[in-house]
Amino acid sequence: MSLPTTTKAHVLRNKPTGNIVLDGPNATFKLEEKDVPELKDGQLLLELLYLSNDPAQRGWMDANQDPERLYVPPINSGDVMRAGGIYKVLASKNDSIPSGKIVRGYGGWAQYQVGDAQRNALHICEDIPGISVTQYLGALGGTGLTAYTGLINVGEATKDDVIVVSGAAGATGSMVVQIAKHIIGCKKIIGLAGSDEKCRWVESLGADLCINYKKDWKTELKKATTKPLANVYFDNVGGETLDFMLTRLGMHGRVVACGAISDYNSEEKYAIKNWFDVVTMRLNIKGFIVIDFTKDFGRIVGELVKAVKEWKIKAGEDNETVVDTKFEDIPKTWTKLFEGGNRGKLVTKLV
Ligand SMILES: NC(=O)c1ccc[n+]([C@@H]2O[C@H](COP(=O)([O-])OP(=O)(O)OC[C@H]3O[C@@H](n4cnc5c(N)ncnc54)[C@H](OP(=O)(O)O)[C@@H]3O)[C@@H](O)[C@H]2O)c1
Repeated sequence: MSLPTTTKAHVLRNKPTGNIVLDGPNATFKLEEKDVPELKDGQLLLELLYLSNDPAQRGWMDANQDPERLYVPPINSGDVMRAGGIYKVLASKNDSIPSGKIVRGYGGWAQYQVGDAQRNALHICEDIPGISVTQYLGALGGTGLTAYTGLINVGEATKDDVIVVSGAAGATGSMVVQIAKHIIGCKKIIGLAGSDEKCRWVESLGADLCINYKKDWKTELKKATTKPLANVYFDNVGGETLDFMLTRLGMHGRVVACGAISDYNSEEKYAIKNWFDVVTMRLNIKGFIVIDFTKDFGRIVGELVKAVKEWKIKAGEDNETVVDTKFEDIPKTWTKLFEGGNRGKLVTKLV
């Protein structure tokens, strides 16, 4: 088989400050044809099969983001858009990952790319009977690890805690609900999500209650967090929801600051009004990035696989939204994240 020497790639054209523009002269991305370099020792030629869609990618390319305060190098104009993915190894000059294997790791929005096992954090996707390979991007990948480390290592959640989680029907949030219920056994779990249908699904995963934040959510949330107040707030969205939750946490309550998707596309960020509650209630707000716990990943994935095999955590079609996508439409599928277009992990399947 002759190997590809060129590839299509989505390149960042304009670093955005607000909404992503998909078409027209101000489009955020542009499609380019690029050369695929020859393999050097240790390298692999990868064909993109699936993409992980992550809200964090928006932060990596934001025009107003100070690169000094980012945890990865920024994506600059002219760079191929960076993303997690699953790839087929078409050729290998690396003894530990032979040609033909399916691997996961970090690459770009390019059909073909040259990878380096270490630089691209490539790992072979071991076959787990009954579990789709896409779960390595979701429940058994960065998503599951974020939910687990956020709730357990950062939030120090216990069975005596009342937990509130926003973005509860999303990738991370839906894992937080399941870990809280089926691994920790938390006293009460309250989710927030963007539709009644999503809320019923979150409850089916183990939440005692899920509130539609597009309705009269503050009244509902106040009712649900009165006697007892909440102990842990797992924050995926930031903004007004975080602000209100500061008033619903009890003494020494903990905020797990995981993300702030409600603000990622805003030109003007939401300003917190209830900050004095942090003082009066001695709240503890802890930010984290999942890679802070890299040394624990092997053990945690082992625990998550065990939980899936024991039917405590769902890792099937039900907890992911896999979107068949032509290469040209990769940006369009990614923006579904910001429109509530996914339930569970949003995965792009290249067709
Ligand atoms: N700290 C870390 O290491 C780390 C790692 C991974 C992810 N994160 C963060 O965790 C959060 C969740 O990420 P994810 O990968 O699991 O993605 P995700 O939750 O699947 O993100 C998409 C969902 O976010 C919700 N959403 C979109 N716009 C919103 C808005 N304006 N207000 C409220 N909700 C909105 C939508 O659900 P609805 O229909 O319910 O609105 C959408 O389906 C993000 O903030 C992300 O940056 C942090």
